[in-house]
Amino acid sequence: MTYPKKVRIVEVGPRDGLQNEKSTVPVETKVALIDKLSASGLQSIEAGAFVSPKWVPQMADTDKVYAAIQKKSGVGYPVLVPNAMGMEAAVAAGVKEIAVFAAASESFSQKNINCSIAESIERFKPVMEEAKKHGIRVRGYVSCVLGCPYEGEIKPEAVVKVAKALHDAGCYEISLGDTIGTGTPEKTRKLLQAVMKEIPASALAVHFHDTYGQALANILVALEEGIAVIDSAAGGLGGCPYAKGATGNVATEDVLYMLHGMGIDTGVSLEKVAEAGRFIADALQRPLVSKVGQVFQNKQ
Ligand code: HMG
Ligand code: MG
Repeated sequence: MTYPKKVRIVEVGPRDGLQNEKSTVPVETKVALIDKLSASGLQSIEAGAFVSPKWVPQMADTDKVYAAIQKKSGVGYPVLVPNAMGMEAAVAAGVKEIAVFAAASESFSQKNINCSIAESIERFKPVMEEAKKHGIRVRGYVSCVLGCPYEGEIKPEAVVKVAKALHDAGCYEISLGDTIGTGTPEKTRKLLQAVMKEIPASALAVHFHDTYGQALANILVALEEGIAVIDSAAGGLGGCPYAKGATGNVATEDVLYMLHGMGIDTGVSLEKVAEAGRFIADALQRPLVSKVGQVFQNKQ
């Protein structure tokens, strides 16, 4: 079996990991988390989301967080943008990269961004134009690629359609999100093979939530299929407010342990990510979800 020699990790903890937290996480805590992650060698760290504060209150301070983090050269700090208003805020903040997000399921699209899939793609067009004008890179997410909390099974064709629309609209990379973590390895393989008929592996990423403990197995399949970009969250925090019961992203520590054990280069220090994972779990007074993180904790 051949695997990619190098993998880029997209750390989504400060956004996906925190967006569902009920009590307000102070700006200083978010900034400290991002700065710790920046020191680990990660190249992409999602810093927040310019979404409606009524919908996701936890991300309301993204402008303050973005202004305060130490931006390390060579590191991207993308933020989520759902519409033209979010884009205005992103431009005002001076961001260099954004992520737009659509869903493969109509019901989830309605619950998450209050519009149909087709409307969401239309909404992104002015966002993409604005991004081009300002030289801002755009990543695209497709949610519910292996199951929807409202509709259940999602057909690969539905995912292919949305992923292609985002790619055609100019997203440099499409992250396929298993929002509720129901995916299993062979379903992951079938999905990737269907998507790769339209989009090259080099423009794809995988984004697994670990609700059913399948994330690492699914990631292994993605590596076998040639995918070399993996989204994960330090400490394994997180979940989407519009996907009830869905737990956190696969933990960055666990992904790094597996990749490094396979001889795959990430350029990221596992020790430093474990430190960041421990910091945020302590700050939120949560037990550490990451298995590898727990080993580091016990060694202390
Ligand atoms: P809406 O209510 O239909 O929007 O929400 P609207 O245009 O009718 O505006 C309503 C109000 O929101 C207005 O304020 C606007 O000004 C304000 P009011 O006049 O009532 O005072 N507003 C905004 N404020 C700040 N920033 C904005 C913005 N836009 C409107 N950008 C909208 C539509 C898309 C805005 C809303 O549904 C929303 O913000 N949704 C975001 C949901 C979200 O962040 N979900 C989590 C991220 S996705 C995810 O986690 C999945 C992922 O991880 C991948 C995976 O796991 O699959 C990416
Ligand atoms: Mg997610």
